[in-house]
Parts: sequence; structure tokens; C-alpha cells
Amino acid sequence: MWEKKEKLQARDLALCQGLGGSIWNSLKGLSRTLGPFLIIPMILYRFIIAWRERQNRHLLYGKVVMVTGASSGIGEALAGEFYRAGCKVILAARRENELERVRKSILTSHCTLPAFPPVVLSLDLSDLNTLASKVDVAKCIHGRIDILVNNGGTSFRGQVCDTELDVDIKVLLVNYLGQVALTKAVLPVMLSQGEGHIVMVSSIQGRIAIPQRSCYAASKHALQAFSDCLRAEVEERNVKVTVVNPGYVHTNLSLNALTAKGSCHGVMDETTAEGMSPEEVAREIVAAVVMRKREVTVATFLPKVAVWIRTLFPSLYFYIMRNRAARLREKEEGLEKTFTINGIPS
Ligand SMILES: NC(=O)c1ccc[n+]([C@@H]2O[C@H](COP(=O)([O-])OP(=O)(O)OC[C@H]3O[C@@H](n4cnc5c(N)ncnc54)[C@H](OP(=O)(O)O)[C@@H]3O)[C@@H](O)[C@H]2O)c1
Repeated sequence: MWEKKEKLQARDLALCQGLGGSIWNSLKGLSRTLGPFLIIPMILYRFIIAWRERQNRHLLYGKVVMVTGASSGIGEALAGEFYRAGCKVILAARRENELERVRKSILTSHCTLPAFPPVVLSLDLSDLNTLASKVDVAKCIHGRIDILVNNGGTSFRGQVCDTELDVDIKVLLVNYLGQVALTKAVLPVMLSQGEGHIVMVSSIQGRIAIPQRSCYAASKHALQAFSDCLRAEVEERNVKVTVVNPGYVHTNLSLNALTAKGSCHGVMDETTAEGMSPEEVAREIVAAVVMRKREVTVATFLPKVAVWIRTLFPSLYFYIMRNRAARLREKEEGLEKTFTINGIPS
């Protein structure tokens, strides 16, 4: 029985590798043939976009920008980027001491424009009933809110069957309902101003779902759907909505991720450690805001291809993910065995 199962899994893997190999070879051949004809227009296009972005960057000067999750990672880098563009930045997150550290470090960064000192505002995205009053406080600081960056969030690692419902609720509260509550509180301010911009830092996992990320991927898919509805409703009233889908970024996200039982994952995943720098992602997000893009994917080649495979060849995507889930399970079971044999975790 086990031998048969192993044979089947080996066959599945070989099939997948064979299929992956032939797709890769075809892509390589195609890129060799079309490469020279595509590269020059692509460089030109990139150059024009970069030039237009530089031209429009002055539009950010003096704007009031509220960034959630500003105490670390992408939010911290974003706060610095907006500050250097001459924005009045409001730094929001739970840990006031970390926000204070970010504020001080931003103030020492080199700025070519006359700049406005950032302000700290502590808030907890999971405490939905307090968010409207936090927005009132934020509005009182500079009299308006031009850009809200919904960036604060938490990740998750675990299998659906092991995950306590409380963990699903917590992740959805922080990553989805918190953003919804904050957006709903800021919207009337923006509508009465006659302009505004809401930025949702989602994830590539708002477009595709991978094993062991159920509630995280669900929260980001929900954010994507909410944002698409919101954009359709408010764009005509001059409130822009930008959804950002980053791939892996080198931040503390995996360290702080919740496990199935609600404890802290506490591990810097290899993929996260090898991810893009938060500063690079922040620059792309600010560029997307300047260019008023509706959606932007900030990721390397592979995650972008995964989104295409999910859209064009769903069965292939499901097959690859099933194998990925099996590999992860095997790895976990292997670790468990080591634990019981040696008595200490490896
Ligand atoms: N890193 C990646 O690979 C990656 C990829 C795709 C998308 N993203 C998204 O990028 C966003 C930023 O994450 P990051 O990578 O920069 O991770 P990070 O360094 O762990 O930052 C997460 C931020 O969210 C804040 N936060 C967490 N829970 C909160 C709560 N209940 N209320 C208020 N703020 C809270 C944290 O601040 P406090 O702890 O001080 O509250 C922290 O500032 C997240 O939405 C994440 O899903 C990250």
C-alpha cells in the first residue's frame, strides 16, 4: 500500500518536473527569439514611466499621509519615502516605542525638500471600535487626510485542520476588518475634501493561495475584492484606490506570523530572508501612488508567473500546490520524528 503511494507520488513529481522543464525550455527559446525585439521598447517604456513619475512627484508635497504598520518593515520604509517626498506623515501601529524610533530615524534621513516632522499615533487594528476615534485624532493633527496606507498586517503558518478558529478570526480582524473599519472612517473625510487616495498593501497571496497560509491568503483575497468594489464606487468622486501586491519582502513578517495554535511562528523563512528589500518595495508603492495606479504587483518573476498559471491553467496550479502541500507535510513529519528520536528539536 505504502510502496504504491510512494510510486504514485514519485510519478506525480516526475510528471510535474517534466512539465515544468518543457515549459521552461519553451520560454527560454521564445525569449531568445523575441528578446532583441522586446528589450528596446521595454527600456524606452520604463524610461518614459520613470520620467513621468519624477515629473509628478512634486504633487505629493504637503500631503497628509497616514501609514499603518509604520513601526517596522514596509510601513517604516514607506513612512521614510513619503517624508522625503515632503509629506506630513502620521505613523500608526501598536508599539509606540517603535514608532518613536522610526520617527527619530526618519528625522535624521537626508531630505532635499523642506520637510514636516512625522507624528506618532498608536492604534490596534483588531480593536475595531476604537478606529473611528483614531481617525478623528489623525484628522485633527493637520486638518485633513489625503492618503491612507492600509499596510499593517500579520501573517500565518499552519494547516487548516490544525488551526484554531480564534486564529482565523485574529488574522481576518487585523488584515481585513481593521483595514475596512479604518477606510470607512477615513472615506467621509476624503469625500468632503473632494479628493483622497486609499492604498491597500495586500499581497501576491491576494491573487493566489498557497498551502499553510489559509487565513492569511483569505484575508488578502477579501481585501482585494473590497478594494475593487470601493474603487468602482468612489473613483468618480476623486478618491483613488491602489492595491499593492508584494511578493516576498525581507521584513519581520514571518517572525511575527501566528501559528495554528496562536503562538508566534518566530522563524525567519528562507523565502522572506531572500525577498526584496522593504525600501525597494516602498519606492515602487510611492511611484504607484504618484502615477495613480489602480493595482501594482511588486514581485520577482516567479510569483508573477504563478498568478498567470492560476488564471490560465487552474488545474496545473492546483496540481503544483497539492505537491507543495505534500512536500511541506513530509518535511513537518520528518521534523517531528527527529524531535521524538533525539528528544530535542533540530
Ligand atoms: N514581508 C512580506 O514578504 C510581505 C509580502 C506581501 C505582503 N506583505 C504585507 O505587507 C504589510 C506589512 O508587513 P511587513 O512585511 O512590513 O511585516 P512587519 O515588519 O511584521 O510589519 C507589520 C506591521 O504591522 C503592524 N501590525 C501588526 N498587527 C497590528 C495590529 N493589530 N494593529 C496595528 N498594527 C499592527 C506592526 O506594528 P505593531 O506590532 O507595532 O502593531 C508592524 O508595523 C502586511 O500587510 C503584509 O501582509 C508583506
